[in-house]
Order: sequence, then structure tokens, then C-alpha cells
Amino acid sequence: MATHDVESKLEGEVYYPAAHIREQATIQDYDSLYQRSIQSPQEFWAERAEELEWFGKWEKVLDDSNPPFYKWFVGGQVNIVHNALDRHVKTWRKNKLALIWEGEPGDSRTFSYHALNREVCKFANVLRSMGVKKGDIVTIYLPRIPEQVIAMLACAKIGAAHSVVYGGFSVEALAERIEDAQSRVLITADGGWLRGKIVPLKETADEAMARQPTIETCIVVKRTGQEIYMEAGRDYWFHDLMALPIANQPCCTEPVDAEDPLFILYTSGTTGRPKGVVHTHGGYMVYVYTTLKYVFDLRDEDRWWCAADPGWITGHSYIVYGPLLLGATSFMYEGAPNYPYPNRWWRMIEAYGITVLYTAPTAIRGLMRYGDAWPNRHDLSSLRLLGSVGEPINPEAWRWYYTVIGKERCPIMDTWWQTETGGFLISPLPITPLKPGSATKPLFGIEADVVDEQGKPVPAGEEGYLVIKKPWPGMMRTILKDPERYKEQYWGKFGNMYQTGDSARKDKDGYFWIIGRMDDVIKVSGYRLGTAEVESALVSHPAVAEAAAIGLPHEIKGNAIYTYVILKAGVEKSEKLAEELRNHVAHEIGPIARPEQVTFVDSLPKTRSGKIMRRVLKARALGLPEGDVTTLEE
Ligand code: PRX
Repeated sequence: MATHDVESKLEGEVYYPAAHIREQATIQDYDSLYQRSIQSPQEFWAERAEELEWFGKWEKVLDDSNPPFYKWFVGGQVNIVHNALDRHVKTWRKNKLALIWEGEPGDSRTFSYHALNREVCKFANVLRSMGVKKGDIVTIYLPRIPEQVIAMLACAKIGAAHSVVYGGFSVEALAERIEDAQSRVLITADGGWLRGKIVPLKETADEAMARQPTIETCIVVKRTGQEIYMEAGRDYWFHDLMALPIANQPCCTEPVDAEDPLFILYTSGTTGRPKGVVHTHGGYMVYVYTTLKYVFDLRDEDRWWCAADPGWITGHSYIVYGPLLLGATSFMYEGAPNYPYPNRWWRMIEAYGITVLYTAPTAIRGLMRYGDAWPNRHDLSSLRLLGSVGEPINPEAWRWYYTVIGKERCPIMDTWWQTETGGFLISPLPITPLKPGSATKPLFGIEADVVDEQGKPVPAGEEGYLVIKKPWPGMMRTILKDPERYKEQYWGKFGNMYQTGDSARKDKDGYFWIIGRMDDVIKVSGYRLGTAEVESALVSHPAVAEAAAIGLPHEIKGNAIYTYVILKAGVEKSEKLAEELRNHVAHEIGPIARPEQVTFVDSLPKTRSGKIMRRVLKARALGLPEGDVTTLEE
């Protein structure tokens, strides 16, 4: 057959999806739809948007009169929650499970669309009664529990933006985000469960609130039940508020402008302060809906498990909004993958009949090291598709995932995207022949390329900057309160192309291979951290004069953080101090940022203008040539 002829010409190690997977796929012909989406993007996106409900139709699909400040579905009136909940409870889906949740201790809760909508309405009433409205940014700092989803949706329902701070972040990271968003309301919990221990979220929140007094009201979900401090007039129990008569009033969904902010999500960049990436109701909604539908082909029979945290973009788009927009059933798990035993995930896949598992290479590598016996004890035959996200997946982990977990039946959707992009940009579809380690090809409406320093496409097989040449509906709109930084950082280098910050290669077959970050962002276990954040946490310690952080390859985490510290005059170097500094970083940012190693040094390689040359530190640590050091200070 013609398509098979083309496929058989692909270079390298190629895996063809089984006929039954291909035949059931929503998209049967990638090439022709891709061509159409690139030739007439506005038509393509308007058709996708029409699959959803709008309170008032847009006047213009794309306003590109002021690049890079693109606007989508201009003039449209909408609310993402109307499409994620209200739309479904009017149909038979009212009785369908929206969310299945398991806590780490083994407790479990389920929510039909009806029940989830009820809880969201109740909490939206509570927030409204507190005066929360359009223009406000509510900070959410919760463990991976259903209330996290409820809180996000409740904010969106009343037109307020949410800023979810990952529950693994700590004091300074939380304080900084509260301050930037000027949040008046914080939603947190007494604690969350992780590896059988309590993560004391309220304690961290108290410390953060002491540093950033903008918070007037703190709503606390009871999860772990230990004694906590509650400040009279500021702190309220979630369950008390939900029991108020006001919570049970009818609750309408606020119509908002398509371009109104849905959420702010902070992410690490090249400078110290995390940037507040802004996403909107309209374009983001259309984009996550379309990408999840096409890439993972979700159907009513599916049980979808995106094993990320709602505190990251993966969770926002593909635990909360995407699956609900599609009326799908989503599974969510609170705790660690290997607790109490390394079969936790595999047991849950069997127990709940999960059909699609979407996770990160670091989790796969982490579970792979326990061997095949753990997954082999379980019936994983419910699985139909697998997914990967967050960092390049090494072929060894890919093959293990494919063979041992997917039993060679389940294609792996290696989705490349970013906090800034809102949803998948480069990804296979279930019909795509796969090459382990490649995210394959750009999705519809996405013009991706690999270019050189001047912005010219590089020849096949050569490394360069990964760029996106045209706007897409799910793209970030700006950085909160810093439009200049948005323009400069993402569009500054090439003018009219979105700069991803990643380096990549495109092979002869047009497949993209992501190599990694080109900037000072380190991907640790798939989490994104800025070297500058780690450095600023280190210098906030009284013993430290200067610090530099770099990422070095790590077998499970992908990268690990290594730091170099110059101590203040008179401070003694010691093992104990190194340990204290590692803990200090974990306390300020979060356990994910804890450096692997602290090395005391007397000087750091710097340019004449005083910038730390991390590239040189990295080369030295790896025993590689230091490259061009003509700008080195000494
Ligand atoms: O370097 C790329 C890597 O993760 C970065 C984006 O990180 P973040 O904003 O935290 O979003 C992660 C989840 C979407 C990218 O610049 N990355 C993400 N997905 C992949 C990837 N690298 C290789 N392959 C992927 N599939």
C-alpha cells in the first residue's frame, strides 16, 4: 500500500502502530490535515472552536496586528468551565465519572460530572461571597487531592485567575509567587501525604504569608489531620465554608472575554525571578481540547491517567482542563510512585482499568530500576496508549516502557511542549510510525523548525534552535506585569519566530529530536528550575558570598543540580555546612531543588562583565574541553 511504502522508507529504528490502533484513530491522514492547517490556520482553528460552546461568537479568529501580542477568537464570550462542566451535566455525562482519585494511604474518592460540578459551584459561591472576582488572582497551594481541581475550576467559573503553586515548592518560591500575583486569597491544606510522611503545607504557607502579607484570607483543606496553627480572622477551614448556606445557592458561570486570563503559572527562566506565564480562556480551551482529542484519542470508554501534578502545566492542561473539556474520565493519584512498594502504579492501572498512561521519562526510569517482576505481577492489558512528557526520553527507557508496560501493543506518544505553549506542539498521533526518543512531527497549525544563529533552517541532522514560526491559540499571551520580558525573551532573538529555548535536530524524515535546554534552565526529574533561582537561594544563606549552579547528567533524574559556592570571609568550609546549604535550598525552593553536591571554591569563572560562565563549569565537571574562553575574566 502507498502509505506503507512511504513508511518503510523511514530511517532508523521504527515502530509501526498496530492496525487496530490506527484504524480507530480520530485522525487518519496526518499529511493532508497538516497542510490544510498550515495553509488556512484561521479556518482550521475556527472549525475546532465551533466544536465547543460560546456565549457569544468571536469576530475575528486571530488578531495579529500587534505581534508578538497575538489575540485569538477576539470578541468571543466564553468560559472554559462552561465547556468543561456545565455542557456535560446537561447530557447523559452527568452520570459519568469525571474524576477517580486515590490517596497515598489508599483512600479513594470518585466524582461524577454532576458531583464535580456541584462541588465547584459550592466553592465558587464561597469565593464569590468573599468578594473574589474578575481581575483577581487566587493562589492555590495544595497537595494532589480533588480539592485542587475543584479550587481551580471554581476560580475560573467566577472569572478569577488562578495561580497554582506546586505543593512540592517551599517558602520562598511560594512567597515570591504570592507577591508577584498580589493574591489576597490563598487556598492550602494542613498537609499532603508523600512516602508515608506528612508534607506540612500550612506551616510553609504560614512562613510565606509572614514574608508576603498580601493574603487576607487563607482557606485550609483538612487532609492529614494533624494539629495546625489557624490564625483567627485570616484562616478558615474549607469544610466549614462549604457547609455555609451561601455555598448551596445556585451558581452561574461568569461569561468572560476569550482573551481574559484563565490562569497564571510561574515557570523558571534565565533570570532569578520566576515568570508568570499568562493563559486565556478562549484560545487555551480550544488548543488543549484539540490536542488531547487528536493525540490520545480519548473516548467514553477510556480511563485516562496523566500522572503529573496539577501544579504544573501538564496537570493544568491534561489532568484538569483537557480531559474535562472532552467529557473524559480522569484518574489522579496523590503520592509517590513507589510507595509502599514499587508496584503501586501497576497495581492502580490494574485496579482501575486505566487505558492511557501519560507520564515523564524520569518516572519511567525510576520504576524501571526495580526490574520487570513488579509490573509483570499485574494485568496491564487495559492499556491502549502510553505517553511521555517533560524531557527527552532515552531509547532504553522508551523500549522498556513499550515492551514491559505496553507489551508492544501500545504506541508511545512522546509529546514535546512547554508551560508557555499551553499544550502539545510536537507529538505523534496514534497512526504515526515511532522512533524511540523522537517527538516525531509538529501538530496541526504548528510550524516548527530548527534554525541557526541567523534564523536560517539548518540542514537535516544538524543541531540548532527549535523555533515556532506562526502563532497558535494555546500560546502564552504575555508574562504577568512584564510584557517587555515576554517580547524580549521569546521573540527577541529572531524577531518573528517564537524561540523555545530548546536545541533540536530534524532528521531526513522530518522527525524532531529534542536535545535539551540551551539556556540556564535545568530539567531535574522533568521539573524546570532556573540556575538563578538555586543561586539566589544559596546566597540568601548568611555564610555564602557567591554561588553558581549547573545541571549535570543523572541516570534517573535526567539532570541533577551541582553547585559551586564561595563562602564569606572567615567562614570555615565543612561537610556539615555543605549539608546545611543543600537543606537551605530545599527549604527555600523545595526538595526538588536540593543540590546533589555543594563544592566550595575560591573563585568562579566569569566573563569580564561579571557573568558566571556556567558552560565552563560544566565542561570542567565533565572533563570536556572548555571551548571558547576568550571572554573569561582571568
Ligand atoms: O526542554 C523541553 C522539555 O521541557 C521544557 C518545558 O518545560 P516545562 O515548561 O516545565 O513543561 C514541561 C511539560 C510540558 C521544554 O522546553 N520537554 C518537554 N517535553 C519534552 C521535552 N523535551 C523532550 N521531549 C519532550 N517530549
